[in-house]
This record gives sequence, C-alpha cells and structure tokens, in this order.
Amino acid sequence: MEDKIRVLLTEEEVNQKISEVAAQVSRDYEGKTVHMICVLKGGVFFTCELAKRLSVPVTLDFMSVSSYGDDTKSSGVVRIVKDLDESLTGKHVLIVEDIIDSGRTLSYLIEVLRQRGPADIRLCTLLDKPERRVKKQVTVDYTCFSIPDEFVVGYGLDYAQKYRNLPFIGVVEQQGGN
Ligand code: IMP
Ligand code: MG
Repeated sequence: MEDKIRVLLTEEEVNQKISEVAAQVSRDYEGKTVHMICVLKGGVFFTCELAKRLSVPVTLDFMSVSSYGDDTKSSGVVRIVKDLDESLTGKHVLIVEDIIDSGRTLSYLIEVLRQRGPADIRLCTLLDKPERRVKKQVTVDYTCFSIPDEFVVGYGLDYAQKYRNLPFIGVVEQQGGN
C-alpha cells in the first residue's frame, strides 16, 4: 500500500513565500555577501530556491548534522556527519534549514559555528513547529511557515528518506508497506 499524503502547502504557496523571504533577506544583507550554509539533506531544496531569488552576492557551503534516525522521533543526539569546506571568519552566515522542531540540531550548530569567527549568524527555516520547541533559546530570523505538530514531507523533508523530491509540503496520513 502506498503512503497517503495530504497537501498542507502547495508548490505555489511555498514558492510565493520563498520569494517574499528572499526579498527580505536581500534587503537585510544589502551591501554584503551572504554565506549560506545549507543543512543537508533536508535544507537543499529550500537553499536552492532561496539562493536563486536573492539579489545580493551569495556563497554556499554545506553541512550535515544528524539528530534523527529513520523514524519520526528525535533521539536528542546531535553529531556532525559532514563539516563545512570553507572557513567562516568574518562572513555573514545564514544557516538554511528545512524545519525546526525541538531546536536541538540548530542550538548545537549555532554554538559550534559561533566559535569559528563569523561576522554574524542568522537562521532561516522553511518550516517551524513552535509547539515542539525544547531549546527555547534558538531564535529564528526568517521563517517561511509555522506549522502545527504534524510530521511533514516534501521540499527536502523525508519520511525514512522518501518524499524529499515532492514539490509541495504534505502530511503522511497512512503508512504503507514500502
Ligand atoms: P530538531 O533538532 O528536533 O529541531 O530537528 C530538526 C530536524 O529533524 C530537521 O532538520 C529534520 O531533518 C527533522 N524533522 C523534524 N520534523 C520533521 C518532519 O515533520 N518531517 C521530516 N523531518 C523532520
Ligand atoms: Mg530528516
């Protein structure tokens, strides 16, 4: 049986909102270069769509931090799976995430990256589940959508590594056999 996926945010809604956030980011970083850090794998679709819409100069780097297994429960354990290639010294860092849930991943990441001497660090997320926050000190500078406490897929977000390529945000309602 296939998983049943209910559309929560359409492709048009998501793209429209990303354009608005990109305009805001471009205004805020006027005269600067944004050093975007894409948090793999989930952040990759959002990073690309956001980067394409920015009018300020952009440099890109990638990092992979793991706090989840292949299930839908946070383990609370965070580790760096792939580190950045570039130094952060003096850079205007924008961390780009797919979703902030408990906030554990980001609170750890910000702490680690702050020690590398960036000019400043801001945080941009496609989705936020504020009800689920455990790390209350994580402040999000740019949020496309705040969503209820439901497990979502698409636009980079996976369920057991599937559905990242869906062009919309959906909720998995029924779990099938494969
Ligand atoms: P946090 O550390 O609890 O904030 O979790 C952040 C990470 O958990 C995200 O980068 C996602 O990879 C994953 N995650 C949290 N909620 C969802 C969801 O609803 N769908 C898919 N992945 C999720
Ligand atoms: Mg994930």
